[in-house]
Formats: sequence, C-alpha cells, structure tokens
Amino acid sequence: MRVGTVLSIALLVAFVQVLKAAPTSPFPNFPYCECDPIGAYKLEQNIIFKGNGTYCFKVKVDVPAGCTSPCCTQADLKKVEFSVNQKCDVPGLLLTATLNGVPTTVNPNIELAAQGPTGATIVKITQLGLNLSNANGAEICLTLGTNRAGKGCTTLEDLCVPPAGAPPGVCTAALFSSDTDCCPPSVVNPPPPPPPPAPCATCINISLTVTSSPFPYNFPPEVCDTYAAAVIANLTSAAEAAGATISVPFNLSTCSGNLVSICGAFASEADSMLLQDAANDLAADFLSIVTGRFGTCPPYLEGHNLAVSIDGTADTRPCLNAIQSISCSRENVSFPKCICDTRLGATPYAALPFYSVQPGRLKTTTQYCFKFTTIPTITGPCSNATIFSKVEFWGNENLRRNIRGFAIKPTGATNYTIISASWGARGDETVKATPLNWNIGQAAGSEICMDIDTTISLKDFCLGPFSGGCYLNIFDPTRKCCPMFVVLDGP
Ligand SMILES: *[C@@H]1O[C@H](CO)[C@@H](O)[C@H](O)[C@H]1NC(C)=O
Ligand SMILES: *[C@@H]1O[C@H](CO)[C@@H](O)[C@H](O)[C@H]1NC(C)=O
Ligand SMILES: *[C@@H]1O[C@H](CO)[C@@H](O)[C@H](O)[C@H]1NC(C)=O
Ligand SMILES: *[C@@H]1O[C@H](CO)[C@@H](O)[C@H](O)[C@H]1NC(C)=O
Ligand SMILES: *[C@@H]1O[C@H](CO)[C@@H](O)[C@H](O)[C@H]1NC(C)=O
Ligand SMILES: *[C@@H]1O[C@H](CO)[C@@H](O)[C@H](O)[C@H]1NC(C)=O
Ligand SMILES: *[C@@H]1O[C@H](CO)[C@@H](O)[C@H](O)[C@H]1NC(C)=O
Ligand SMILES: *[C@@H]1O[C@H](CO)[C@@H](O)[C@H](O)[C@H]1NC(C)=O
Repeated sequence: MRVGTVLSIALLVAFVQVLKAAPTSPFPNFPYCECDPIGAYKLEQNIIFKGNGTYCFKVKVDVPAGCTSPCCTQADLKKVEFSVNQKCDVPGLLLTATLNGVPTTVNPNIELAAQGPTGATIVKITQLGLNLSNANGAEICLTLGTNRAGKGCTTLEDLCVPPAGAPPGVCTAALFSSDTDCCPPSVVNPPPPPPPPAPCATCINISLTVTSSPFPYNFPPEVCDTYAAAVIANLTSAAEAAGATISVPFNLSTCSGNLVSICGAFASEADSMLLQDAANDLAADFLSIVTGRFGTCPPYLEGHNLAVSIDGTADTRPCLNAIQSISCSRENVSFPKCICDTRLGATPYAALPFYSVQPGRLKTTTQYCFKFTTIPTITGPCSNATIFSKVEFWGNENLRRNIRGFAIKPTGATNYTIISASWGARGDETVKATPLNWNIGQAAGSEICMDIDTTISLKDFCLGPFSGGCYLNIFDPTRKCCPMFVVLDGP
C-alpha cells in the first residue's frame, strides 16, 4: 500500500470520528436557520402573566431606521419561535395559544430544531397571519400545560433558554415571515414576581355609644389592659388553631373612655380569611369579655350600646370583618316597693357605678362605701327635685341585725357621721339611710357607707339579680322621685 493511501484512510477515519462526536450543525445558534435578523417586528420587552401558566407577549411593528430590505418593508409575521430547554419536550404535552384572545388555528408545538445542534429545542407558534398593517399591538398568549402525567415546564424559568448571562425566565424569540427569510429576534423579560401579599391590618374595637343615658359610662383605664389581655389571648389561640399567621402582634392601641382598640395584623388576606368563619363567634366572645361575669349587660351600661367590631383591611380591601353588639337597658325588678320615678336622670343625683371597701367602725365590721354625684336631668316631673333626702337599699331582712349602721359624709364634712339603719315594713326588704336632706352642694361627692358584720358577705346582704351588686334609690322629700342604681364591686 502506498503511503498516500494510508494517509487518506487515516484522515477519513478521523473525519468520520469527528462527525460522530459532533454531527455537523450548520446553525449552532438560535433560531438555527439562515434568515435576516433585521426586520419589522419585535416583541415588547415585558411579558404579562395572566395566571394558570398563561404568558402574553405584545407584538410591536418597529422598522429599524434606514432599513429598506423586504424584511422591513413587506414581510409578514407568520410564526414566533422560542428557544427552550430540551427537558420540556415531553410526550403528550399540552400547549395552547391565543392571538388577540382567539385560539390560534394550530396549537403551538415543542420540537427539536431540525438544523440546530443536538438537543436544541424550540416552541413554535405558527399560522399567526399578521402583517405590517395588523401586527402592531397584537397579543399572543402562550399557555404552558403539562401532559397527563403532570410532566412539563409550566414556568418561563423552566421553559426558556435565557441569553448568555441573563437570569432564568428571560426568553429569546424569533419572529418569522412566511418565507422564513426574516427572523428578527426579541429578548423578553419575565413578569416581575408578584408583590408580597398585603398584610391584613386588623383592629378589634370595643366601643360604647350612649343611647339614652344622662350618665355616660367611661371605660376605666385599667380595664383596657384587662380587656386587651383577654382579647389577645383569645384571638391568638383562635389564630393558632386556624393556622393563620399573625405578622404584627396584637396590642392595645387606643384606650379612651368609650373606645378600646386592640390592633395588629395578619400576614396576609389569606391568613385572615382562615378566621372568617369564626369571626362572628370571636366577636361574640370578645363582647362577653366586656359583659363579664353576668353574661348580660352590666348595670352601669344601662342606656348604652356596646359594640365589638373586628375590622381588617389589606391595602384598601376589607379582609376580616365581624361585628356584635348589645343594647343595654335596665332589668325589670321588684324594687323599690313604692311607686316613684326610678329613671336615670329623673333627678340630678346619681350613684357612681362601683363601691369601695374599707375597715368598719368596729373591729368586727367592714364598710362598703357608695359615692354620689350630680348629673344632667331628663325632662319630667322630678327634674327640679333638689333635696337628696334619703337612700334606700334592697337588703336582706334576715340579716337585719348584721348591719351596724351607716357612716355618712356629705361633701364639706371632714368626718363620717354614724346613723342607724332603719328597715321598711316587713317583707319590703328595704334598708334606709335616713334622714340626709342634703342640698346639691352637699350631695355631689358625698359618701354613704354600710357598716356590716365581717361574717356577712355583701352578696348575701344585697338582693337582686346582680350578685355582689347593691340596688339603691335616691329619694327626694316627696318620695315620688327615686332614681335607681345598681352599684358593683368593679367592672
Ligand atoms: C385557572 O383555571 C381554573 C380551572 O381551569 C379556572 O377555574 C380559573 O378561572 C383559571 N384562572 C384564571 C385566572 O384564568
Ligand atoms: C394584512 O392582513 C389582513 C388580514 O389578513 C389583510 O386584510 C390586509 O390586507 C393585510 N395587509 C397587508 C399590508 O398585507
Ligand atoms: C375565647 O373566649 C371564650 C369565652 O371566654 C371561650 O369560650 C373560647 O373558648 C375562647 N376561644 C379561644 C379560641 O380561646
Ligand atoms: C404594646 O404596646 C405597648 C405600649 O404601646 C408597648 O410598650 C409594647 O411593647 C407593645 N407590645 C408589643 C408586643 O408590641
Ligand atoms: C377602630 O379604632 C381605630 C383606632 O384605634 C380607628 O382608627 C378605626 O377606624 C376603628 N374602626 C372602627 C370600625 O370603628
Ligand atoms: C320591663 O317591663 C316593662 C313594662 O312592664 C316592659 O315594657 C319591658 O319589656 C320589660 N323589660 C324586660 C327586659 O323584661
Ligand atoms: C319644679 O318646681 C316648680 C316650682 O317649685 C313647680 O311648680 C314644678 O311643678 C316643678 N316641676 C317641674 C317639672 O317643673
Ligand atoms: C373628726 O374626728 C376626729 C377624730 O375622731 C376628731 O378629733 C375631730 O374633732 C372630728 N372633727 C369633727 C369636725 O367632728
């Protein structure tokens, strides 16, 4: 064999090996064909995400300055191709597309690029039928589905081969004319990530409005903390149980006479919505925190409306909402035993809602002290009753020996005066602090203390539906005017 032949064979073998290792790829780069990259069409830079795997692209007719080639002056726009990852080419993949909202005549296809290097893959949306007069502003939407096995790429990050150096999600497209002579490229950016969910800022407001009371009640400052602690504990455990994330812990934010506001935030609207079904029950629970041990309106809320609202907003949208309210009026009771005007504000006198406790006059007694004030009157026959004549309490006659008198102190007096307790007719269950006959100046700020044996509980001594509370009437000398109050140990 001649040396030359041997050499040729060796060369041939080498060439065949090269072919096997890397089959000839005439077009190593997207769009893997010979075509003019300067043309009249492009895709606008920003992709619009429509949800459910649907991404939309806007076509723009944009002829480069000075371009007079047919690609710029005549070419139509028949198809768009995207450079995509080979792994997305799974059998049975469902891709759909729309042009201006109408499904394209042919479904998009994912395929190997015939003239590209090994594995080069494209998604092709064709039969668009666009041209220079109707392409501008056309919207092409591609919906990324999966096959029946759930396989496939459903995000642009998964699907697209980004240009060198670009982050995942950036896509390269080529816009082809019918004759495939023109293929101007476009690089399009993925939609910005959705903004983080807006927190659901939420307040629980406990509010009081006067409906018919001349004696408005104000939440004492210390009860704000009590209510807030109970509401927060209750809400927090409800949120935990529902799996709702609280991003701003709830805290007392307003404590005024007629409003206790406890505010915080749920991490998102969705978090707050986990509680929506329970919201009315929660509001009712919060209301019962305020009505407290009686399970109904406490007497000091007579003539008030008590409302508890749960009020949430995310941005400007409402998120968690509920309201519960109760309108408070006086309980009907069989006291006093005479007929007189018991209404609040019948006369200018009122008892403060809570009594205080102090050591008694004797070592064996305790004093329960009731304080009095003046209030505006309602119109009626008693509105100019100005003498604070006596006070009568609803007391337990069986314990008549256990009250050791009243210690009284009109405004202006430095010491208590002791007067004996006198009882009404048998069966009236009425014990009287009398005579007083104070004028307005003496009555406003005055004090009347029951001196009761330490062995006796006020719960037993005072009668009526509010356990631990005492009913009393403030009489004028005519006995026709007798506004009634229930005085408790605390809210
Ligand atoms: C997503 O698909 C579901 C089911 O096909 C449909 O009910 C829902 O309306 C779609 N959402 C959007 C934003 O298109
Ligand atoms: C563009 O296409 C529309 C619809 O197919 C057709 O009516 C119109 O004549 C075409 N315009 C040009 C400039 O080809
Ligand atoms: C909230 O308080 C109410 C009444 O105090 C109670 O019945 C309820 O179980 C509490 N709820 C939670 C979630 O703690
Ligand atoms: C609640 O508010 C009080 C006073 O406004 C503040 O001192 C406290 O740190 C707050 N607590 C939380 C958990 O934010
Ligand atoms: C609840 O109280 C807050 C003040 O802390 C106030 O800004 C808000 O408007 C109140 N919401 C309702 C529903 O009254
Ligand atoms: C109390 O009595 C009055 C008059 O007898 C009646 O109109 C009212 O409904 C009663 N209220 C309640 C709460 O029972
Ligand atoms: C108030 O006092 C006057 C004079 O003492 C009396 O005539 C009148 O009846 C009283 N009552 C009202 C409601 O004005
Ligand atoms: C008040 O009581 C004190 C001590 O019991 C006594 O010294 C004083 O004189 C009394 N003052 C009046 C005005 O009664």
